[in-house]
Amino acid sequence: MTITITIGGVHKGGVGKTTAAITVGHGLALAGYTVLIVDLDAQGHVAYYLGLERRPMIYRLLVDREPIKKCVLMARSPNLCIVPSDASTAMAQEKLVTMRFNELRLKQALAPLQGGPNLVILDTAPGAGALHDAAMGASDYVLAVVEASTASLDGLSLLTQTIGEFRGAGHPVGLLGIIPMMLDDRTLASQDAMEALHHAQDGLAPVYPGVHRATIFQRSVSDGRTIWEVDPTSRTRATAEYSAVIRRLLEDLDP
Ligand SMILES: Nc1ncnc2c1ncn2[C@@H]1O[C@H](COP(=O)(O)OP(=O)(O)O)[C@@H](O)[C@H]1O
Ligand SMILES: [Mg+2]
Repeated sequence: MTITITIGGVHKGGVGKTTAAITVGHGLALAGYTVLIVDLDAQGHVAYYLGLERRPMIYRLLVDREPIKKCVLMARSPNLCIVPSDASTAMAQEKLVTMRFNELRLKQALAPLQGGPNLVILDTAPGAGALHDAAMGASDYVLAVVEASTASLDGLSLLTQTIGEFRGAGHPVGLLGIIPMMLDDRTLASQDAMEALHHAQDGLAPVYPGVHRATIFQRSVSDGRTIWEVDPTSRTRATAEYSAVIRRLLEDLDP
């Protein structure tokens, strides 16, 4: 069975969503799972962070209606593939708005993947929009990434509301959990935010193991390598923390 997850849901940029998509995706691929990451952001960071070229595959998939198998590129081994994006994804989103049944387009385009990869990860752009809705409509679950500051927790109520609307419309998307990102033990704001998160999410969605702020992520971006490649012997806190996120995901999903 193929499980589809949207990473994001909270309409804020720079919180570590794309990093989570590729770090979790590559970590699972290294553990033997087959993973496809679909980049729904016109910034094209999925390809860029993996050291690959941006490509107009989302436009081809959604506007030109090319079959998904023609839009998939191998990123590392056959275990880790991506559907890369580039600036044309912004145009695809504009066109999508004017199409009928637009919120079903992505779901339909991804349907042939059923029974293929163990996991499909949809990485979304900051901000609400047609592609974000399309991602929710194509997903079994949402995994939210929130920056550990009280301000960014605001976005969570909007997310639970959106999920409620999708469920009300008959699409059973679930909130898998919330990953607190960019934790900083030295700042009170970060500690307050964690407390507020546990309090606000009590019984609503599980709080996943968090990931601290670390310089390895910037290095990883500038090298076009994932943290598993920058630190192959997993000696950093970042790799230990992301390993915990992946273990938790495997417990929850059993893919
Ligand atoms: N835990 C972290 N600590 C420090 N920097 C991080 C962390 N996670 C991601 N980053 C960095 O923050 C920047 C934004 O991350 P990104 O994943 O692109 O965010 P988003 O997709 O939410 O816009 C990138 O330069 C990335 O390397
Ligand atoms: Mg991103």
